[in-house]
Amino acid sequence: MADKVRIGFVGAGGIAQAHVDALSKVPDAEIVAITDVSRGAANALAEKTGAKAYDSAADLVKDSGAEALFILLPPFAHGEAEQAALKARLPFFCEKPVGLDEGLLNEIAAEVEKQGLLTSVGYMNRYRQSVNRAKEILADEPPILAFGGWWGGSPGVSPWWTNKSKSGGQFHEQATHTVDIARYLFGEAVEVFAAAANGFNKGIPGYTMDDAVSVVIKFENGGVANLMASASSNAGGSLFLDLHSLNHNFHFTEWNHNVVIKAKGGELEEIKGEEGIFSIEDAVFVAAVRSGDRSGIRSTYADGVKTSLVSLASNRSLETGKPVSL
Ligand SMILES: NC(=O)c1ccc[n+]([C@@H]2O[C@H](COP(=O)([O-])OP(=O)(O)OC[C@H]3O[C@@H](n4cnc5c(N)ncnc54)[C@H](O)[C@@H]3O)[C@@H](O)[C@H]2O)c1
Repeated sequence: MADKVRIGFVGAGGIAQAHVDALSKVPDAEIVAITDVSRGAANALAEKTGAKAYDSAADLVKDSGAEALFILLPPFAHGEAEQAALKARLPFFCEKPVGLDEGLLNEIAAEVEKQGLLTSVGYMNRYRQSVNRAKEILADEPPILAFGGWWGGSPGVSPWWTNKSKSGGQFHEQATHTVDIARYLFGEAVEVFAAAANGFNKGIPGYTMDDAVSVVIKFENGGVANLMASASSNAGGSLFLDLHSLNHNFHFTEWNHNVVIKAKGGELEEIKGEEGIFSIEDAVFVAAVRSGDRSGIRSTYADGVKTSLVSLASNRSLETGKPVSL
């Protein structure tokens, strides 16, 4: 391997720009190739980074000499990029959520497993000290109840986010971070039951998602959570997760997951969320590709699929009006 890990990007939108910035702080990484269905978007990001633009993920993998892929695509657009990585046995980093189609996700996960391919999924909050301090305490004292989610305002027009058949809806696309942290702390989910509020947001072209969703999740450890998403809270949004075990309360707030931990005796521990979390998760992936040591990776492709299966089950529960077993 050369001095730097040669990286190819599939997708040149908003999160690709965030990873360009993040990787600029990772000395071992070099972005050498970019592709996007919009050739203009690929060209613009290629020009900015000094990378070369390609017509497709398959061409990029064949011709660029990339040693790892960053798959930075909306939920509906997954499949080809992962297949290209698998064909060439290239390690890949995939943004959350890893997709929409359960059959496809299981198929890719099985092939990743068969090849023993190195993968990472963009659940960056798993790298936060606040979250890992909670995990440390909860290892000895299991979580019992959680309440959390993402509340945001009514969206504007979007090419895919507000179209539920493309994004999976806000709970699947955005509150997936909270679902993932709940899985990270509780363990596996066994049952999901969802209800949605609709008809409040009006007149947004192309809008087919729910205005708000509330999802009850039962976990294998016996604990329960009520996680939610809202795209109709215009007086101010928030991102939060409150959780308790027998003797501790955990109060996570804001995007960077600041936490206040309160013990039964009243002692408080406060940890602020770190800045530059995308650089932290990208540096772990790049180091793993270089060394082959995967121990720093906190969410593999298989793990990312499990988080997606929870929110996809919540969509099935919305359709049927019934609880869905996982
Ligand atoms: N980790 C995080 O906190 C975080 C933050 C923002 C976005 N994301 C995730 O990143 C993903 C992409 O979001 P975004 O904000 O970059 O969206 P975006 O709309 O800004 O960009 C998506 C890009 O993908 C391209 N594209 C679509 N289909 C394609 C295909 N089949 N092949 C190649 N390119 C294709 C589009 O042309 C566009 O340039 C989403 O799943 C989103 O949830 C994660």
